[in-house]
Amino acid sequence: MRGDRRPPAQGERVYDVPFARRGSVLDDTEFRALAEVLNSDASLSMGAWRTAFEERFRTLVGTRHALSVTSGTVALEIAIGLLDLRPGDEVVVSPQTFQATIQPLLDLDVRVRFCDVDPYSLNVDPNRLADLLTDRTRAILLVHYGGWPADMEAVTDLARARGIVVLEDCAHALGSDYRGRHPGALADIACFSFHSSKNITTLGEGGMITTDRDEWAERIERRRSNQVDGVFTRSLSPAGEIPALLPWMQYSAHIYGERCERVRRSGTNATMSEAAAAVGSVQLDKLGDFVARRREIAARLDEAASAHPGVRLQQPGPGIGHAYHLYTCFVPGGPETRTRLVRALDRRGVEIQLRYFPLHLVPEWRARGHGPGECPVAERLWFSEQLNLPCHPGLTDRQVERMVEAFADSLNDVMPVDAVSAPQGGRL
Ligand SMILES: Cc1ncc(COP(=O)(O)O)c(C=O)c1O
Repeated sequence: MRGDRRPPAQGERVYDVPFARRGSVLDDTEFRALAEVLNSDASLSMGAWRTAFEERFRTLVGTRHALSVTSGTVALEIAIGLLDLRPGDEVVVSPQTFQATIQPLLDLDVRVRFCDVDPYSLNVDPNRLADLLTDRTRAILLVHYGGWPADMEAVTDLARARGIVVLEDCAHALGSDYRGRHPGALADIACFSFHSSKNITTLGEGGMITTDRDEWAERIERRRSNQVDGVFTRSLSPAGEIPALLPWMQYSAHIYGERCERVRRSGTNATMSEAAAAVGSVQLDKLGDFVARRREIAARLDEAASAHPGVRLQQPGPGIGHAYHLYTCFVPGGPETRTRLVRALDRRGVEIQLRYFPLHLVPEWRARGHGPGECPVAERLWFSEQLNLPCHPGLTDRQVERMVEAFADSLNDVMPVDAVSAPQGGRL
């Protein structure tokens, strides 16, 4: 059933070990689920498959609500909209994330404060966070970088004492573990991505919002399905005056049964299709295997690097389960050494990327007054130490062997063992 892989585009370099998987990640189990959806006589929108996927997700994460949408970016737009931020409000964010985590803030007249990161996890450092909170801070937007959950007890302790909302960007964290709890249930609201490269996918794109708050779930429901996110009172008049609704009118019942006092935002259509949701459920069955494979690959890379005591590895302490959406390590010796290592790996067919360029340094945020020196740890790591190697279940055993060998050889080329004396970094 499975077609050939996509041929490379003209000029595209095909790596022996690509950073992200090429081609479809789906196999016969997803194809069977898709055939069931497509051959059924049910609607392809807003039906039983979406409900089932959301129910399973909600149970896995451990929240009262899980509402699917079309992407992680849309999930974040909707979730940030729920915060009702006003001019003068302050929001503390991580600089070490994909732009979508904080992008909606660019359209708001709020003061953004970037919180520097912990040098191992690349997550917001709670010690620095404390210094950034003021009586105007309304929200903290953080990411569980690469699948290593942030220090949520410390963060939520600080936030709760001040009535600050915490939003978890869980785009990398599906399948992670935080002291026996799943990210996405550790704060007030959370957003997941099911993009093709993520820990599971719903036909290439998709997202989910999780929360315990009923009022927010209701607002998300309205917003994602073309209704108005507003402040409603129950009815224009005593119940008897509302016209009896014919079944086909139920969908629009709020128009007849409620009065909108204030519109916060008009809705949009961010509805996950039945086909995507059906695939999502099958992918959830495989999540354990996917994460186990990511961990296995990470352990092999760690082992290859362990001969070089200066290389710092990401090894969380007890109770923290890293999902290794990204494999990250840190090399000593400065930017030139790192560049030589990247080139050596590239020559050996291993595609290296650096995730992510610190956001306070991108033009959009510089134009808002941010710039170098604001997050010295994130800057130092990105510009001279950080390295992300391929780590995904799409890699075959042969590709993993090849990468591990290439990593060991490249490290030997660039930093012969006897030339390095710094202690190896483990975890705090
Ligand atoms: C940390 C993070 N947040 C948000 C997103 C956005 O998700 P999506 O691609 O589903 O819009 C991504 C996707 O790459 C991400 O890595």
